[in-house]
Amino acid sequence: MVEVFAVASGKGGTGKTTSTVALGMALADRYDVTVVDADTGMANLLFHAGLSDVETTLHDVLAGDRPIGEATYDRFGMRVVPCGTSLDGFRDADPKRLREAVATLATDTDVLLLDSPPALDSRAAVLPIVMADRIVVVLQPTIPAISDGLKVQEYASSYGTGVAGVLFNKVRPDEDIEGIAEKTERYFDGPTLATVPESEQAREARRAGRPLLAHAPECDAAGAFRRVADGLSVQPVPSETVADRVRSAVIPEPP
Ligand SMILES: Nc1ncnc2c1ncn2[C@@H]1O[C@H](COP(=O)(O)OP(=O)(O)OP(=O)(O)O)[C@@H](O)[C@H]1O
Ligand SMILES: [Mg+2]
Repeated sequence: MVEVFAVASGKGGTGKTTSTVALGMALADRYDVTVVDADTGMANLLFHAGLSDVETTLHDVLAGDRPIGEATYDRFGMRVVPCGTSLDGFRDADPKRLREAVATLATDTDVLLLDSPPALDSRAAVLPIVMADRIVVVLQPTIPAISDGLKVQEYASSYGTGVAGVLFNKVRPDEDIEGIAEKTERYFDGPTLATVPESEQAREARRAGRPLLAHAPECDAAGAFRRVADGLSVQPVPSETVADRVRSAVIPEPP
């Protein structure tokens, strides 16, 4: 049994990669978790998970050169599939092969988290959303971020992908987050899972190349990410059903 989540936002830089790794670690207390850097054009999950030196990445899999198992690493209590950062690697990556890779991973994990690219402007950018059962929308409490998040929700629902909830990230103390969250919830199909504060520890963790929950597990932001994981209520589906659906997912046109 497995559920596939795409961690998405529309707007860039809201904290999708940070959130993917943090949620993965938090969920790994209860589930067998696999996280995938599905941002194959601007990959950087490897820098958040101490994997910047690995030899084989998702790019090699998407080029048809390696099986997905060789790009899967056990780190921080979860399985992590990093993606390479070279332009050549992106050029040689066939997004269609991502379906088979994700389908294979889905047969052997409880929760699969796909760190998704910002924007909706290419097949590589929209495919994770199409393959997922539900999206987690990572917002900053700003009009542009909320507007872009709504576009992602609209796009996701046009492909039958649901919304697990909304996560507000990088929230500053001077922001009326409760008021903003209350208004925002009216427009999203899922609840506000938690609000994660703007956090020096989150920045430090990135610089140290470690997940926030490993670097500063007691900080407020880490606690907030654990609340997001608690609120996610995973809805597992038989693995073979998910794998078949992912394998046969239409390679979508960007909107
Ligand atoms: N709660 C937080 N407080 C402070 N800084 C944060 C927080 N969350 C993330 N960051 C920082 O913000 C930057 C962007 O975060 P991240 O890479 O996770 O965003 P992203 O949405 O994945 O970006 P992209 O759209 O480029 O993929 C990073 O430097 C990260 O360390
Ligand atoms: Mg990212």
